Amino acid sequence: MFKAVLFDLDGVITDTANYHFLAWEKLAKQIGITIDRTFNEQLKGVSREESLRRILKHGGLEKTFTTDEFAQMAADKNKNYVEMIQAVSPQDVYPGILSLLKALRRHDIKIALASASKNGPFLLEKMALTQYFDAIADPAKVAESKPAPDIFLAAAAGVNVAIQETIGIEDAAAGIAAIKAAHALPIGVGNADILGADIAIVGNTRELTLDFLTEVWENDNN
Ligand code: BG6
Ligand code: MG
Repeated sequence: MFKAVLFDLDGVITDTANYHFLAWEKLAKQIGITIDRTFNEQLKGVSREESLRRILKHGGLEKTFTTDEFAQMAADKNKNYVEMIQAVSPQDVYPGILSLLKALRRHDIKIALASASKNGPFLLEKMALTQYFDAIADPAKVAESKPAPDIFLAAAAGVNVAIQETIGIEDAAAGIAAIKAAHALPIGVGNADILGADIAIVGNTRELTLDFLTEVWENDNN
């Protein structure tokens, strides 16, 4: 049986993936770059700085800005994003997530956050979920961001569980790649076209029950 579940946040626990998109869309527009939701799939799970690099490249502006200007744009996007998430509340937690967290606790299965976002702890507070998490991996302290395995390894280490005994839950292609590279067992939230046909996927977080996780684990380990 698995001993810990490592959660991504944006797009898994709540709909903040959408706010990230809206904040990047606004920033991109200011510098004359148009981004759409298809392109946005390449930004999901990816760090703030790497997201901005990808947007600039998408608009052919990767060599246009100084280091200071780059840092300013990243800060502007974050300011915008932080304004958008002020109103996040417990009502914004995706369906099924709270009951999964409670079930995991009842069964003594550890819970850790493996989000690339520096706003993760703030959002958990806003959703009144902090108490359920045994560890929050700090994205500022890992060497490489998703698709590298680092943040999932840090999350497993934070709860003292071997990575092979964990399940990772993700909505981003970069995140699923990170879970695979870490050798945790991935479960995707979204669809197979984006996340791959070789992993367990739910279309809605309502399906993320302890029974479902157990079934995925047993199918993989027998
Ligand atoms: C990830 C999001 O969870 O966090 C990305 O999927 C985001 O879109 C990344 O860029 C970093 O977040 P933040 O809040 O630190 O800019
Ligand atoms: Mg995500």
